[in-house]
Amino acid sequence: MSKPTYTLVTGASNGIGRAFAEECAERGDNVLLVALPEPKLEEVTNQLSSQYPEQSFHLLGINLMDQGAPQQILKWCNDNGFTVNLLINNAGLGNSGPFVSRPAEFYQGQMQLNMVSLVGLTHLFLPMMMAQEKANIINVASMAAFYDIPFKGIYSASKKFVLSFSRSLNKELEGSSVKITVLCPASVPTNPDVMQREKELGLMARLSSRTPKQVASYTLDKMLQGKQVVIPGFFPRLYKRIGTVVPYRTRLNILAKQFVKNSK
Ligand SMILES: NC(=O)c1ccc[n+]([C@@H]2O[C@H](COP(=O)([O-])OP(=O)(O)OC[C@H]3O[C@@H](n4cnc5c(N)ncnc54)[C@H](OP(=O)(O)O)[C@@H]3O)[C@@H](O)[C@H]2O)c1
Repeated sequence: MSKPTYTLVTGASNGIGRAFAEECAERGDNVLLVALPEPKLEEVTNQLSSQYPEQSFHLLGINLMDQGAPQQILKWCNDNGFTVNLLINNAGLGNSGPFVSRPAEFYQGQMQLNMVSLVGLTHLFLPMMMAQEKANIINVASMAAFYDIPFKGIYSASKKFVLSFSRSLNKELEGSSVKITVLCPASVPTNPDVMQREKELGLMARLSSRTPKQVASYTLDKMLQGKQVVIPGFFPRLYKRIGTVVPYRTRLNILAKQFVKNSK
C-alpha cells in the first residue's frame, strides 16, 4: 500500500488558512495544521479529527517569524514520516498606516513571515515534493501585489515578492511534477481588522469581498485546472483590468486617499 500523503497549511487556525484546512479535509486530504501555538489551533485540529475520523490531522504550534521555523517544520514532518504533496503557504501579516508609525522590528517580523518563511518552506519541501508523481504549492499573495500602496508599502511589496517569486519558480519547475499557484484575494472578512477595513473602504470593498470558504474552494478548483494566478471574484478581476488603463499617478493618489483614511 502506498504511504499516505498530507496537505500542509500554514496559518491554519484562522481565516483563509483555516478554510483551506477545512476544504482540503472535506475533499479527503490528511492535513498538517501549522500556526502560532494558540488554543485555536488545537480546536480546529480536534474539530477536523472528529468530523473526518478516517483521515489524519496533526498540528504544530510554531512562530513562523522565528528564523529556524521552516527547518523545524521539515524536521517535524521527517521525524513523523509525513509526506507533503500540497503545501499551502498562507500565514501572513497585514497592516496599514504611516511607515514611520511602526518600529522597524514590526516590518522585520512582517517581512520574515510574508516572504522569508515562505521561501524557506518552499525551498526545504521542494525535494520531497519533486520526488512525487504530482504535487502542488499554493502561495498566498494578495490583490495588493498588483499595486504600489501608500500607507501599506511593506505589505504590498511583500505580496509583489510572493507573486513574482511564485511565477518565476513555476516556470523554472516546468517539466517537473510540482506546480505553483499564487492566490491573490481581495477583501476576505477573516479578522476584526479586515472587517473594519471593509466597512471603511465602502462599496468597492464590499463588492469584492469573498468568504474564506469561497476563496479556499475556488483556489483549489483553479489549482486542479492548472491555473497559475488565482483572483477569486468577478469584481476584483474587473478592478484589476480597470487599474491597467488608469494612469499610474492617478491610481497612486486614489490608493493613498483610500488607505490614509484606513490607517492604523
Ligand atoms: N483577509 C484578507 O482580506 C486578505 C486579503 C488578501 C490577502 N490575504 C492574505 O491571506 C493570508 C491569510 O490572511 P487571513 O486574513 O486569513 O489572516 P488571519 O485571519 O489573521 O489568520 C492568520 C493565520 O496565520 C497565523 N499566524 C499569524 N502570525 C503567525 C506567525 N508568526 N507564525 C505562525 N502563524 C502565524 C494565525 O495564527 P493566530 O490565529 O494564532 O494568530 C492565523 O492562523 C495572509 O497571507 C494575508 O496576507 C488576506
